Amino acid sequence: MNLFRLDASILPGTSTSAELADIAEAEWTAANPGATVTRRHLGTDALPADAWALATTAAFAPEADHTPAQREALALGATLAEEVKNADAAILAVPLYNYGVSQHFKTWVDLVIAGAGPTTPLLKDTPTVLTTTLGGGYGPGAPRAGWDHSTPYLERVLADIWEAELTVIKRELTLAATTPGMESLRDLAKEQHDTALTAAREAGKTLTKR
Ligand SMILES: Cc1cc2nc3c(=O)[nH]c(=O)nc-3n(C[C@H](O)[C@H](O)[C@H](O)COP(=O)(O)O)c2cc1C
Repeated sequence: MNLFRLDASILPGTSTSAELADIAEAEWTAANPGATVTRRHLGTDALPADAWALATTAAFAPEADHTPAQREALALGATLAEEVKNADAAILAVPLYNYGVSQHFKTWVDLVIAGAGPTTPLLKDTPTVLTTTLGGGYGPGAPRAGWDHSTPYLERVLADIWEAELTVIKRELTLAATTPGMESLRDLAKEQHDTALTAAREAGKTLTKR
């Protein structure tokens, strides 16, 4: 058994998305002692920002004409796609940055697609947990309702393109405890945190049952 674990926080020491993913992972590991965990941390080991364009343009040129940089980018895309494809279960921890996914996460998705093709269901029948954390709140009635352009994109890629059996654990208001002006949201934020912790445990258990 092989669990694929991806992290995208640029602040790994205090990562709220990793807190939830760690709980789910611990459940999986307890049920699969000695099994492999394949890790990729985009926050600490960013992928080269030009690799996607190099891999993609290589496809328009004969192999014999590929530059060393194009060959390297193609190999990277293939490696990343294999990591996803080889997963028996997957956990991804992806925060909201600047109302969307960060460029380093987008680079990863683009490179996986360059390696596997645009419609390959890499996670078909693979139980997958996404933990995503957001500093603010974006639900109906919030001043910035609808500004979360990350979660719908993540669901599109993981569930619709890669066909994962996806469970999403979303925790909003992570900045309420420390941000002036968000004091009135602290109780709600704590509730959301507690709910997410429980959901992560449940999701980890479900991950092992499927
Ligand atoms: C560079 C940066 C940009 C951020 N942009 C947003 C944002 O647009 N909206 C928001 O609600 N929170 C934003 N946040 C807050 C994060 O979403 C929040 O702190 C989240 O819990 C981070 O997850 P992590 O702890 O796993 O890194 C941002 C944080 C950082 C560091």
